[in-house]
Amino acid sequence: MVKNELEIPKRVAIIMDGNGRWATARGLPRIEGHREGEKAVTATVRAAVEFGIEALTLYAFSTENWKRPADEVRFLMNFNRELIDRRASEFHERNVRIRFLGRRSRLPNRLWKKMVETTELTKNNTGLKLNIALNYGGRAELVDAFKKMAHEIVDGRIKPDSINEKTVSKCLYAPDIPDYDLLIRTAGELRVSNFLLWEIAYAEIFVMPVLWPDFGKEHLLEAIREYDRRTRKFGGL
Ligand code: IPE
Ligand code: IPE
Ligand code: MG
Repeated sequence: MVKNELEIPKRVAIIMDGNGRWATARGLPRIEGHREGEKAVTATVRAAVEFGIEALTLYAFSTENWKRPADEVRFLMNFNRELIDRRASEFHERNVRIRFLGRRSRLPNRLWKKMVETTELTKNNTGLKLNIALNYGGRAELVDAFKKMAHEIVDGRIKPDSINEKTVSKCLYAPDIPDYDLLIRTAGELRVSNFLLWEIAYAEIFVMPVLWPDFGKEHLLEAIREYDRRTRKFGGL
């Protein structure tokens, strides 16, 4: 059993990248890569539940992804709604608590409704915390946190001089998950692309060549094995 041998990271974030390349390599339109990515999402959630990971955060659509051609954006909005619709009941049965990180603005109403409905359906689940970052940007999250803090200052609920790292963490989209242990990026790019800027301050980073549609339990396990081999120092000795 994996659990007895390895140190399992509690909080894992994944930049699910490489769908377009997966499709292009097969002479298919890019959207076929997104479609194929659903299998990887399902396999990864199942494996995260099995491995006893506390929180899994998946980057599904960034605040920068609106720059893509309108038909790809439209596809992704519909596809994400359908994916949530198709998978919610299975994840719910697995005791997964689903939440969404990101801004509501620009998201189609039908998608937003599905996000609210799914959050509500699974809100009392006590197993894996699954966060789907959709219309998410790390800087947008920090801007939203600063706004929230500013309002609390104006309302007299916090004093400017009492602001510390905990105060900031509490204003983030998922205040219960202020720090990640492991950040995985598929498809090889060596950048964070505006993901969880505050929360990955001391995460171990593992970039894998595998394209997202090909990702599965074995790759998550490979990342956990790598994590297990790392020495985390947090600035100490
Ligand atoms: C990741 O795959 C999915 C999203 C960003 C929505 P990409 O679509 O970025 O795939 P590549 O990077 O072009 O291969
Ligand atoms: C990051 O991937 C965003 C998601 C996985 C949703 P991108 O493909 O958008 O990132 P860049 O453009 O390579 O930085
Ligand atoms: Mg990409």
